[in-house]
Amino acid sequence: MNREIDSLILATLLKAQPDFASGNALAEDLGVSRVSIWSHVDQLKKEGIEIEAIRNRGYRLKALPKELHPALLEAFLWKERVASEFRFFESIDSTNSEAERELADGCPTPLVIAAGRQTKGRGRLGRQWFSEDRGNLYLSYVFRPHLAPTRMQRFTLWFGLCLCAELNDAHGLPVMMKWPNDLLCDGRKIAGILTEARVDADRTRDLVLGCGINVNSDPESWPEEIRNRATSLQRVHGQPLEVHTLAAGLIRKGLEAYDAFVAGEHEREFEKLWQRFNVLDGAEVTVTAVQGDITGVVDGIDTYGALKLRLPSGEEKSFQAGDVTLSGQRG
Ligand code: BTN
Repeated sequence: MNREIDSLILATLLKAQPDFASGNALAEDLGVSRVSIWSHVDQLKKEGIEIEAIRNRGYRLKALPKELHPALLEAFLWKERVASEFRFFESIDSTNSEAERELADGCPTPLVIAAGRQTKGRGRLGRQWFSEDRGNLYLSYVFRPHLAPTRMQRFTLWFGLCLCAELNDAHGLPVMMKWPNDLLCDGRKIAGILTEARVDADRTRDLVLGCGINVNSDPESWPEEIRNRATSLQRVHGQPLEVHTLAAGLIRKGLEAYDAFVAGEHEREFEKLWQRFNVLDGAEVTVTAVQGDITGVVDGIDTYGALKLRLPSGEEKSFQAGDVTLSGQRG
């Protein structure tokens, strides 16, 4: 089955919503027979996309699946005018590992890799990222910034803040950022970012931002230690979210975030978003870093994105990396 025709049909149906799109017009526009359109629609219906067909009126989208469908995602990406290279896998070891393989093969960038599930999802600090649920997003953005490594130091924070802005402003989801790479809702983690880079002495050769976002999954089905500190957008929102709209918006936003950052046009917006979404502002926290656990009150970030803590002794300490736990909470 030709996947591009599927995406083109779905893009037409999305544009026509809530009206019908005529079968004749579809066949003519796509240069295929009406029977061929019918058989593509029939296949899409079998794959979980509810499409209403009425003689003399045509086809209309009725309901979209809770899990990512590749042709539908492609149609949404066109709608969002996302022009970057894109790959989708029903199942893969890790989208970040696939990104490494693509880079080794000389892939064009920017490139976005998405998967329905992962068998070896990776988190920060060598942890595993639970990736069995199909209603979630597993995304990797692949870039070749060719900028000095010091120029990229705030990039993960900026990227996370932009994802927060998209989730709040386009979807009304109260998502906040927890330094250095977590997105939280109701004090629980809904997403994590894993940044992996190959750095030469004077430039960042390539950069992969892997984002795992808990969308339409049920925390009740997760292992207990994850359930205690994480949640899903569906749980926060009280009902499933339209995962294709969400994914396409986040992909567009992530790519825009990169463009603004490398052009050096992000600084004023960074400060605004940081004021708006920094969940740690003035909070008492414990940072678990290589030096051990250190407790203090958060006093912002420095120009390199390091977290500044005011210790009980009055001394100020900065952390380039580490895990942060809010006092009185498991973070
Ligand atoms: C963390 O909070 O520890 C970061 C988690 C990052 C998970 C994502 S899912 C998509 C991409 N592929 C991976 O293997 N990991 C990242």
